[in-house]
Amino acid sequence: MPRVVLAIAAAPLLMLTLIGCKANPPGKAETAVVNWAKHKMFVHNKKEKNPIQNTPAGIADGREAFSHYCAACHGLDAQSTGVPFADRMSPPVPSLAGMDAQSYSDGQLKWIIDFGIWPSGMPGSKGMLSDDEIWSIVLYLRHLPPAGSLGEPQMYTQ
Ligand code: HEC
Repeated sequence: MPRVVLAIAAAPLLMLTLIGCKANPPGKAETAVVNWAKHKMFVHNKKEKNPIQNTPAGIADGREAFSHYCAACHGLDAQSTGVPFADRMSPPVPSLAGMDAQSYSDGQLKWIIDFGIWPSGMPGSKGMLSDDEIWSIVLYLRHLPPAGSLGEPQMYTQ
């Protein structure tokens, strides 16, 4: 009998603890699930290969295209250098040199740049940038310079 009483008394406590957990910021497990879903379900075009040749000129083209538009949020180095609001966006602007971004296939990166990631702040660029420009950006993302080595985007330093 006392055991049953104990169990009944413990139940609301347990529930309170569970509810308490819910109010916390997304934990590791939740983030892992979202990342898994992004990689496996939402982001298509896994198999398409980059038609731009892996040459210094191709990478330079990508760096140039990236600096016009993407750099406003991602920094010239794609690692958020000099972007004043990078941490304050929700979700924050991620470093594109990090494991999460680099573990996409080339085709998936192309797809993300074409269509963006809804509903976050990452916009789609299809129609604004040509396919060649986008593929050269994908090549650039595979050859990123050390963080900070390209300085800050001009738009924030003037
Ligand atoms: C208005 C700000 C903004 C602009 C402009 C922008 N991005 Fe993003 N980008 C973001 C944010 C915020 C995220 C995080 C989205 C998320 O995780 O849901 C993101 C995510 C990404 C990711 C996925 C990273 C990951 O780890 O999942 C890639 C790749 C990317 N951006 C590339 C680019 C490229 C290339 C351009 C230019 C063509 C660009 N972005 C322009 C804000 C921006």
